This record gives sequence, C-alpha cells and structure tokens, in this order.
Amino acid sequence: MMDLALTKLTQLAFGYWQSQTLFALTQIGIFEAVADQPRTGFDLAQELQLDEMAASALLRAGVTLGLLREQEGEYGNSELATRFLTSSSQEDLTEWVRTMSQWVSPWMRLEQVVRGEAPKGLEQARLSKNSSDERRFILAMHQFARRTSDRVSEALDLSDARVLADIGGGAGTYSISLCRRYPFLKSQILDRPSVLPIAEEVIAEAGLKDSISTSACDYRFDSFGDQVDVVLMSNVLHQESRQVGRSMVQRARDALRAGGAMVIHGHFLDNDHVRPTFSVLQDLSATILWQGGGNYTVGEVEKLLEAEGFDDVRSERIPESATTLCRGRRA
Ligand SMILES: C[S@@+](CC[C@H](N)C(=O)[O-])C[C@H]1O[C@@H](n2cnc3c(N)ncnc32)[C@H](O)[C@@H]1O
Repeated sequence: MMDLALTKLTQLAFGYWQSQTLFALTQIGIFEAVADQPRTGFDLAQELQLDEMAASALLRAGVTLGLLREQEGEYGNSELATRFLTSSSQEDLTEWVRTMSQWVSPWMRLEQVVRGEAPKGLEQARLSKNSSDERRFILAMHQFARRTSDRVSEALDLSDARVLADIGGGAGTYSISLCRRYPFLKSQILDRPSVLPIAEEVIAEAGLKDSISTSACDYRFDSFGDQVDVVLMSNVLHQESRQVGRSMVQRARDALRAGGAMVIHGHFLDNDHVRPTFSVLQDLSATILWQGGGNYTVGEVEKLLEAEGFDDVRSERIPESATTLCRGRRA
C-alpha cells in the first residue's frame, strides 16, 4: 500500500526539481525553439550552444513533466507549453515564469532571513536601475493578473464613479478591465516613474489612451489626489510594512471625496492565518522579498479600514483569482 505521508514528504523535498526544470527550459528558450517544428536534442544543443548530454537529460525531464512531447527522437511542445509558454499564444505566461525563476535566489535565503538576516530580495531589484528586470516583473504581473482581472471588476459596481486612482497600478491590468467595463470611468495609474512607459505601452495596445493616464508617485509618501471617487490598491500592501500600509490608507482617505470608495485587493489570509495555502506562502515570500513586507488577514484589512474612518466595510472572495476584495466607504 502506498505510504501517503512519505509521498507527501518526498513531494515537498523534491518540489524544486520540477520548478528548476521548468525554469531552465524557459530560460534557455526551448519552448520557442520547438514552437514551429519538432527538433532533435542534437539540433537544439547545437543551435542553443548547450552541453548535449545535459540538454538531453533536461529535455527528457521536460517530457516526464508534461511540458514537452517526444516522438522518434524529436522534441515538440506539449499542449500545456503551447498554451502557456510560447510567445504566439494569447495566454503566454513566459515572462511570469521567468520572474518566478528570479525569485529562487532570494528564496534560497529563507533560513537566513528567519534567523534574523536582512532579506536581499527584490528590494534591491526595486531600487536598481536594471530596466529589463523591471520590465519583466511588471509584464509578468500583467500576464498573470489579466487572466482573472475581469472577474474582479465584475464584483465591483463602479457605475457612478468617474475618477479612479490606481495605486501601484503596474501595467494597468485592473484599470484596463475596469475602464472597459465602465466607459465613463477615467483612471490614473500612480506608480514609480520607470514603470509608467511600460504601462503606457500596455494601455495603448488595449486602445484605452483616452481613459487611462499615468503619473509618477512614490506611494510611500506622496498624495493620491483630491476628490477622487475610487482608490484602488491591488496587490501592493503585502510589499510594505504595516506602518507604510497605514499611511497609504490614510492618504487614500484624504484623496477620496465623501462617500468615495476604497478598494483593497490581494491574496489576503483567512483570519486563522493558515489558509488559503497560496496566501500563506505569499506571506512567506513577501517576508523574503520585501523588507518589512507581509500579508494581511482579511480581518486586519477590515480593521485598518474601520480605524481610518471608513464605513460600510466588507470583503468578498473572488474564487477565480483566489483573491479577496476588501471595501470601505469614506464617511
Ligand atoms: C505586484 S505589482 C501590482 C500591480 C497591479 N496593481 C496588480 O494588481 O496587478 C506591485 C506594483 O507596486 C509598484 N510599486 C512598488 N513600490 C512602489 C512605490 N514606492 N511607489 C509606487 N509604486 C510602487 C510596482 O512598481 C508594481 O507596479
């Protein structure tokens, strides 16, 4: 009989073998290289300047994991890879997978961080001038979030709103979805100066240049505007300390008109702190990646809103994205 407890332990211990196989195949560009026609291991090794034996082991691991297919010595993409890991697919998640592979190095320091050493994660990347890493991160978040952004928008009734401030709005994923749904809504993305050209590119591609503008902002200190109808903070609070989070909510309140809506969206924890699994692991990830960062429980977000003078505070889980929308109205 199968020992389920041992199976669980071995899955946990070997888990990174699978991730690393996916990351290596993606970073080396195997999925793109075989997108048009299947190739032999020898051809791929020649073209991509790989060690032939190691490449062969990697390709076979890709087959075992359901990422590649092999027929008569030629490798092609599986359905999963064709759908998610090739640039011609509408559902391409390559940038997102590449970003996940960059998080391996900060995650390797989990033990040291827990022992009290400072995280050396994306905090540095965030402050660095490495624009290709930045572009990758912003597009990665967009690739992933756009899959479910319409489900999040559907849960928000903004039919009376005209002005939205999207704090740390990134590529504009949620502004795009909301402005498509509410044609009278104008959104302003407030993000770091280096992110704005990336957002502008994505907004232009979406044909929403007249509805969505961008403005440079350091959300840790700057004002979020005046007489705004809605302030959206999506997937940002976990990157900051509690102190910064409180200040952000206070400045959101100051920016809103009376009766305006505050919307906080993210992978919040259940109030028992141990569910859902992704949110719990994202909490750990934020601890490693962002100095002072960490996830909130839904109850903590609600208390924060109430403490800062919002009423009609409520929360709603969005099953498709496994996220939660917490809302309050400026009294
Ligand atoms: C995880 S992404 C979330 C993007 C988008 N809101 C979403 O939900 O998909 C975090 C965003 O916060 C922005 N950000 C980080 N630090 C910031 C700061 N100090 N001021 C303004 N934006 C910041 C990043 O540039 C990035 O766009």
